[in-house]
Amino acid sequence: MKITIFQFCPDFGNKKSNLELIAAKAKELNGDIILFPELCTTGYDFKNRDETLSYAEEFGGESVSIMQEIASDTGKIICFGFAEKNDDKIYNSCALLFPEKQYSDVYRKTHLFFRERFCFDETDKGFFVVDYKPADIKIGPMICYDWRFPEAARTVAMKGADLILCPSNLVTEFWHVSTPSRALENKVYLAVANRIGVESRNEKDLVFNGASKIYDYNGTVLAEASQQSEEIISAEISPLDTRDKSFNEFNDIFKDRRPQFYI
Ligand code: ACM
Repeated sequence: MKITIFQFCPDFGNKKSNLELIAAKAKELNGDIILFPELCTTGYDFKNRDETLSYAEEFGGESVSIMQEIASDTGKIICFGFAEKNDDKIYNSCALLFPEKQYSDVYRKTHLFFRERFCFDETDKGFFVVDYKPADIKIGPMICYDWRFPEAARTVAMKGADLILCPSNLVTEFWHVSTPSRALENKVYLAVANRIGVESRNEKDLVFNGASKIYDYNGTVLAEASQQSEEIISAEISPLDTRDKSFNEFNDIFKDRRPQFYI
């Protein structure tokens, strides 16, 4: 099974051209799973809630419908970040779309980063994993800043994920220290799709640092993009290899847990 990441610089506020670009890439790129960055149809650094709302769409809205159609037509699994509105709430979300629409779902970012708290609501949903039977793969999403919370990847892994997808808009370099450990300690594949470019909207330059990565379940880098170029990276993964959590004849990383001693 092949996973492919498209790392690029979304044009802030230009939903039409961003959507056209990711739709074209979802069609043309080679891969069973195609992953795009966080908030990639709109850009990231909204000024406030009203501005975010003016770009937000429902999970059943135009962007998701177009990408769902591509997933169904091409047989690909597609994941991309977008600003979601749902009733009177706004979420920093990613759509996880499967060829058979009944598997498709939306993840709402659990841990809001920096000024996101002025633009988005906290999730009402939490983590989940889709058990995609047609390809026998279990996929769970998290978004960007969720990386700083080991509980996030642990929860997704304990819900059964073979692969964690992490659409991102990363602005610090520290994530490189943590993300291989999230893969290793949970014995899961982990794919981080970061964006590139600069946004200067709230009296601050946000420089997004690229270097999207695909890790195997030992935390080894299978593929890595450069820091500031539009790029496509791919890797072959074997989802079934993640299901046995033992690493020698005595130890199993999930069975060895001692939750009674954890906070
Ligand atoms: C982030 O959560 N976009 C850093």
